Amino acid sequence: MNQTFLAPFVARSYVPYSKKKSAAMVICADGTWMPGVRVENISFPLTISPLMNAVTAAVAIGKTNIVGAYFSDEITAWDESYIQATLKKMPQRLSAHLLAWGTLPDELGEMLSPFQNYTFQNIDEIFLKTREITQFAYIPHSNFPVGALLKIEENLWLQGCNVEADDWGVGLCGERNVLSTALTFGVTGTELYISCPKALDQKPTPCGGCRQVIAEHFVDKKILIDMGVRPAQIESSASLLPQSFKADF
Ligand code: THU
Repeated sequence: MNQTFLAPFVARSYVPYSKKKSAAMVICADGTWMPGVRVENISFPLTISPLMNAVTAAVAIGKTNIVGAYFSDEITAWDESYIQATLKKMPQRLSAHLLAWGTLPDELGEMLSPFQNYTFQNIDEIFLKTREITQFAYIPHSNFPVGALLKIEENLWLQGCNVEADDWGVGLCGERNVLSTALTFGVTGTELYISCPKALDQKPTPCGGCRQVIAEHFVDKKILIDMGVRPAQIESSASLLPQSFKADF
């Protein structure tokens, strides 16, 4: 049964390097669920696991009551350690356990939609929203929230925030969160808005890891960075990461 639920997402997984398609879903206490696809990167260590993609998409819309996870494929050691070392250690907000492989909860509810119907009059209103989205950031280690909004079409948006883990190396930035959610749902988006409310006067720009992922998944599109009272900084994948790592192998 789960294969039916996950099949469309498995098909959307971005796996040009391994060719191993996979998807996962996280299940919330109320039975609702959020899918995530595997998103590979030419720089392999930047690959986003299907579990991490699903967890971060759920957290970005305020769903933190995650009680289980389910995988289209056998769970990888990476995802197993993500559950053990991170989700299980966050009892206040995130507590996941792996459901027996092949078993679904008795009652699986609706799939959660990450899409938001937001109407904005101007760019200031967009940045007010990206700052507001930072309320969902899970940042016990940095206390540095990041919010991102991806415009899909007029009045249709996806949102992202940073989601940290006990193991810092497996946290995910707000920008990568929203871009990987877009891949899960088969959309690309046209404009990416980013706010780091705690660093507005320091000209914050996306980190190197995010730039590399942007270079693969958000090419020739507009990236607008919140500069507080100053005009937004407008970038592109090429301006953010000239000479990005590309290879044929
Ligand atoms: N962070 C982002 O979300 N985006 C960036 O481009 C820079 C860093 C997050 C990661 C971590 O949760 C916190 O900010 C501190 O590094």
